[in-house]
Amino acid sequence: MSKNIDWSSLGFGYIQTDYRYVCRYRDGQWEEGGLETDANITLNECACVFQYCQACFEGLKAYYTKDGRIVTFRPDLNAQRMADTCARLEMPAFPVEKFVEAVKMVVEANADYVPPYGTGASLYLRPFMIGTNSVIGVKPAVEFEFRIFCTPVGPYFKGGVKPIALKVSDFDRAAPHGTGSIKAGLNYAMSLHPIMEAHREGFAENMYLDAATRTKVEETGGANFIFVTKDNKLVTPKSDSILPSITRRSLMIVAEKYLGMEVEHREVPFAEVPDFAECGLCGTAAVISPVGSINDHGKEIVFPSGKEEMGPVLTKLYNTLRGIQMGEIEAPEGWIVTVK
Ligand code: PLP
Ligand code: COI
Repeated sequence: MSKNIDWSSLGFGYIQTDYRYVCRYRDGQWEEGGLETDANITLNECACVFQYCQACFEGLKAYYTKDGRIVTFRPDLNAQRMADTCARLEMPAFPVEKFVEAVKMVVEANADYVPPYGTGASLYLRPFMIGTNSVIGVKPAVEFEFRIFCTPVGPYFKGGVKPIALKVSDFDRAAPHGTGSIKAGLNYAMSLHPIMEAHREGFAENMYLDAATRTKVEETGGANFIFVTKDNKLVTPKSDSILPSITRRSLMIVAEKYLGMEVEHREVPFAEVPDFAECGLCGTAAVISPVGSINDHGKEIVFPSGKEEMGPVLTKLYNTLRGIQMGEIEAPEGWIVTVK
């Protein structure tokens, strides 16, 4: 039985659900792990996560399909990306297969929180890992906790698919050779001040440029950029300090294989941005969020698709991706993992 929640008015917030998966790492190995009901964690004040921010996370969604199944989208890629993140943060990788099994366990146990088909909402899953033992000298933890909780969510940006306004940030998100390409909690800690500054000025998010030259488009605090050229190509920025978005990698395939578009994954000079026909953000939380305008130190770039509606090409990409995720359009092999 579905919970009594007003699904269509959900924003992107936390609603505590009944079960979460917990697995602890001690004496050099992962324990068995399983579902628990306690949403709280009690740790020593000197735990590595509190002092030196040894923490990373992932994000993925579960949905009801048209034919009544509950599915997740490419969870193996989240598992692999978390393993890549862990390698950079001196954390132990959580095995990919165990990760996918844990995702299924959490979704199945909280099935009543999966928003019904057609509501536009979904169940957001948040796998994360923290260093739990006490350390005071700067060094990695030796004990860790891997967890997955879930929460039903609606659109990430207020207004759903109405175009958002961005500003070009004077802060950097990620340094060359830094941690921009992994999903470390510290990347988001550094973004809290810039995003609040952006909000105070009336913008939904920041566009970060490359830290070294401030001439190339990187990404926002929580999503990759996609652009559409006037001659219908999909262009998406390439850089070693951008998080490799699973949505973006999927959209590149959708654009090419389903919509017959040319796709370019390359450096995008900021100077080229005013030439694009459409601009959007993509990610698990953002899905595809259209960008109506970008403010560059008082100079406003407005895309031809305008400030009121998502442009025609992004709309096609959005509908095709959502159709694949909701089981209405046949998915490439392995993209849709059925939970029940
Ligand atoms: N970029 C950043 C910085 C993110 O936090 C996210 C969210 O996960 C993304 C991009 C989008 O990645 P994905 O499509 O894998 O959710
Ligand atoms: C996601 O899209 O899953 C993210 O992690 C982005 C943001 C909520 C941090």
